[in-house]
Amino acid sequence: MTATESRTNVAATVKEAMQTRRSIRKFVQEPMDQADLREIIRLSTLAPSANNVQTWRVAVIQNPELQTKLQAASYNQAQVTSAPAVLVVYSDMEDALNTIEDTLPASMSEDDRKARAAGFRGRFAEQDVAQRGAWGLSQANIAFGYLMLAARSLGYDTVPMLGFEPDKVRELLNLPEHVQFVGLLPVGKRAEDGFPHHRHSVDRVTKFY
Ligand SMILES: Cc1cc2nc3c(=O)[nH]c(=O)nc-3n(C[C@H](O)[C@H](O)[C@H](O)COP(=O)(O)O)c2cc1C
Repeated sequence: MTATESRTNVAATVKEAMQTRRSIRKFVQEPMDQADLREIIRLSTLAPSANNVQTWRVAVIQNPELQTKLQAASYNQAQVTSAPAVLVVYSDMEDALNTIEDTLPASMSEDDRKARAAGFRGRFAEQDVAQRGAWGLSQANIAFGYLMLAARSLGYDTVPMLGFEPDKVRELLNLPEHVQFVGLLPVGKRAEDGFPHHRHSVDRVTKFY
């Protein structure tokens, strides 16, 4: 599928979104439709997580000046300023622990809520911030995958990025020390085709027992 076809043909199925997703580093120079942007993020929040903990958090950057600074903190990777929006996705396990009650269904009795919240906090009480942060990050990674596919399904493209200096990004966005970054995700309409998929075969990555 060419870049033009990819941005005009909204992918209808998950399979199609998976097959047409490519890392895109050059974007059409037009602002993101804000309703689409919110819908992409909403769809990503449907990702599953252990205990429904939902550790993912998203900082949305749509500001050329801030994107220029973010690019400087990302080894000068040009896609950070090419994209109309950059999502900085991070995990905040400390916030999740402090507010775990928010993840419980309203229908639950007060006693059950207290027991569930205490049980969850107890499980992490012996771990330090870094240890439980790593656990929280493994949950947030799932939502990162959902974000890419949600974007593609609405006709947008992304490039996942870990090539940046976390301390600089943390400082730029005024984020607390304990948060763990999932990655940066420039998003917009593709202005290039991206590379064809080049992947291991099913047999290479699978053992059937
Ligand atoms: C966790 C992660 C970090 C990545 N970091 C970068 C990055 O910093 N810069 C970049 O240009 N691409 C980055 N990529 C994109 C990969 O190069 C790309 O996914 C891979 O080559 C496969 O190509 P495809 O995404 O087009 O299928 C990253 C991908 C992942 C999943």
